[in-house]
Amino acid sequence: MTSSEELHKRRLAAVAKGVGSVIPSYVASAGGGTLTDVDGREWIDFASGIAVTNVGNAAPRVVEAVRAQVERFTHTCFMVAPYESYVTVCEQLIDLTPGSFEKRAALFNSGAEAVENAVKIARHATGRPAVVVFDHAYHGRTNLTMALTAKNMPYKHRFGPFAPEVYRAPMSYPLRDGGLTGPEAARRAIDVIEKQVGGSNVAAVLIEPIQGEGGFVVPAPGFLPAVAAWAKANGAVFIADEIQTGFARTGQWFASEDEGLEPDLITTAKGMGGGLPIAGVVGRADLMDAVHAGGLGGTYGGNPVACAAALAAIETMRELDLNAAARRIGDTIKAALADLDPGVAEVRGRGAMIAMEFVIPGTIEPDATRTAAVSKACHEAGLLTLTCGTYGNVLRFLPPLVIPDEDLRRGLDILRAALLT
Ligand SMILES: Cc1ncc(COP(=O)(O)O)c(C=O)c1O
Repeated sequence: MTSSEELHKRRLAAVAKGVGSVIPSYVASAGGGTLTDVDGREWIDFASGIAVTNVGNAAPRVVEAVRAQVERFTHTCFMVAPYESYVTVCEQLIDLTPGSFEKRAALFNSGAEAVENAVKIARHATGRPAVVVFDHAYHGRTNLTMALTAKNMPYKHRFGPFAPEVYRAPMSYPLRDGGLTGPEAARRAIDVIEKQVGGSNVAAVLIEPIQGEGGFVVPAPGFLPAVAAWAKANGAVFIADEIQTGFARTGQWFASEDEGLEPDLITTAKGMGGGLPIAGVVGRADLMDAVHAGGLGGTYGGNPVACAAALAAIETMRELDLNAAARRIGDTIKAALADLDPGVAEVRGRGAMIAMEFVIPGTIEPDATRTAAVSKACHEAGLLTLTCGTYGNVLRFLPPLVIPDEDLRRGLDILRAALLT
């Protein structure tokens, strides 16, 4: 097999530099908790391809469903000649998402595309222009979603001008907002929206229930319900971006369930497809059905192979009770990381979406240098971890929800050793 070193040389001559990779190794195969590279080296997977392979890589049901679908047909375009699995995936989204109201769903290819479409739907249904997003938010890399995303480097730098009518409100970030309660932080955000945008101009309030790339920021209890209530009172669409948090990652089908939220619209992607590209927008029927026929869609959205994979992934999550597995994984990670050094300000998250935030000891000043050093030490010892956060000082853990206990514990041993370096 061609070595990683040789592949890397070919890459430099063929692949645009703007597309980065976390590790220098090239994957040969992957399973439930580990990746094996072309040099035969094993990596414990605490990344899941950024929260995608919740059911593991090459999950048996997904493999079988994809194989069977490819043999039947690979593509007709749902907008040209429809097929059952698209409808079934929409039914599943309707069943699994919170909200007892009548719902509709539509399928797309990527998280960013789902977010773009949720905003289109909200603007169309309300006839209003403004979209409110939050500090530390991440919603994608297309032009509109870059505007919605908070962090400049690397996502937005020199890629403007960005889409207009996007307004940013302060987030509830308990470690960094001076002990504001959830309702207090919501009041602060609502003040900004009311003063700078005006409630009657707001088409949508878009928020990740637990922020992903922004640092696994878990808002204080009461923040999300208060913001959602404000949106409702002002006729704005409350959109929960559950692209990273959805599909059992946080120990629930959707993180919105935690505080009894019933978002008007939910965006989903990542874990939904068991590794194949598929995304969805699901929510209130009156909003979704407001758009004229032909106003939503795309050539590949809800491709039959991706739909087959999604149905098999959802079945796997149900069969293996991956919500319970995510909670167990979270408990194990939190227990292993308790009583850490003073450079770790917080271990936070929910289910199998856990992160640690590094600071200069005795302060809350972000320590991106240490974060990078710990991450590098993990990689050198064969543990695949990712960093995140507005300040680059958060190390996050997103293992597949089927990771064997033994691999999880080996990974945590590596992490604990890396913290000593
Ligand atoms: C919360 C959230 N929204 C949107 C996206 C964009 O998804 P995609 O990369 O599939 O376009 C991501 C990806 O990390 C995400 O975490």
